[in-house]
Amino acid sequence: MFEALSPLPADPILGLSAAYKQDDNPDKIDLGVGVYKDEAGATPIMAAVKNAEQLRLETETTKTYQSPAGDPQFDEAVADLLLGDTLANCRVASVQVPGGTGGLHVAAGLIRRCNSEATIWLSTPTWANHAPVFTSAGLAVAEYPYYSSQLRGVDFEAMADALRKLGSNDVVVLHGCCHNPTGADLTEQQWQVVADIAIERGFTPLIDFAYQGFGRGLDEDAYGVRLLAQRVPELIVVSSCSKNFGLYRERVGAVCLVSADTQREHQALPHLLNVARSTYSMPPAHGAAIVSSILHDEALRGQWQQELTSMRDRMNGCRTLLADRLAEMGLGDSFDHIRGQLGMFSYLGLSVAQVQRLREEFSIYMVDSSRINIAGINQQNLDYFANALAAVSR
Ligand code: LMR
Repeated sequence: MFEALSPLPADPILGLSAAYKQDDNPDKIDLGVGVYKDEAGATPIMAAVKNAEQLRLETETTKTYQSPAGDPQFDEAVADLLLGDTLANCRVASVQVPGGTGGLHVAAGLIRRCNSEATIWLSTPTWANHAPVFTSAGLAVAEYPYYSSQLRGVDFEAMADALRKLGSNDVVVLHGCCHNPTGADLTEQQWQVVADIAIERGFTPLIDFAYQGFGRGLDEDAYGVRLLAQRVPELIVVSSCSKNFGLYRERVGAVCLVSADTQREHQALPHLLNVARSTYSMPPAHGAAIVSSILHDEALRGQWQQELTSMRDRMNGCRTLLADRLAEMGLGDSFDHIRGQLGMFSYLGLSVAQVQRLREEFSIYMVDSSRINIAGINQQNLDYFANALAAVSR
């Protein structure tokens, strides 16, 4: 049976990590997968996470099954983190899921049950795994314009025009903040326009919210999520704790269904849980227990927020460092836009050929779109990277 399978290309993001590991150039730089790195190039466990983990080891009394909705305390704390003060005005059902990808997968399963003819609209460009997640759930995928290389930012006019043509069979995937891969986010005013169009045309927004706290701050980054939760009749939010809690391999996230009335919520939630049950039964407990401990404990929460702030500050510092160095080298015009991007990623605007040259000649690894993980830049590799970039840009 297996012989019927054809060979697959390497994963466009995870494949980079494998290739980087095999590279024996001592100057190699990994700017591929979206994982936070400190100045030493390490991805340490956050101190608040370590403390919560210790507490968990001492107090955990059972390993019996959870329900498909996961830990109710986690579900409640994460809904609060995502929606803040607006929670009081919304009808929200939140369930724990195995990471952002797991959340997108169960959300896709729910959408398919609601409307197997639904089309999922993705921004151009978007995270490389979005289309595979939705197509593997049997849904049609299409694209709306988002980033413009000419503008070096969001082409909102083109985006809004495309959204104005959609209707009730459509689901529009929006990045809550820190757009992956471009780092180019919607302004508050643009979010308002998206909400107006969603109401007018009747499409359902699905917000992929994987980087809360990495852009401008926990509340600031939630502007679009909170606005749409208040304004549209139905909203799906898929959040991840991989980045802001550094819990990548623990696979922890949430799906929040925001519904205009109790009846819709009571119709949707059992189906979401039933998709989870038939896929993985119940989400893994450990990561969610850590997040729940942190969010319910004032001291741990304060420690976590401080750590998150310094991670964000470091990434912003890397952005400025790189842009300044490139400007000093006379490349300012081509790369100045990276100063205004938000979150973990910077979209350089290189061609695939230039990206390949960086990989082959300099052992610098980034996604083919020229997305770099800005946290991979540090004082040690800055000059090597800037010189290589200059070499392929001239
Ligand atoms: C990324 O975009 O690099 C991360 O979200 C990791 C992944 O799973 O692709």
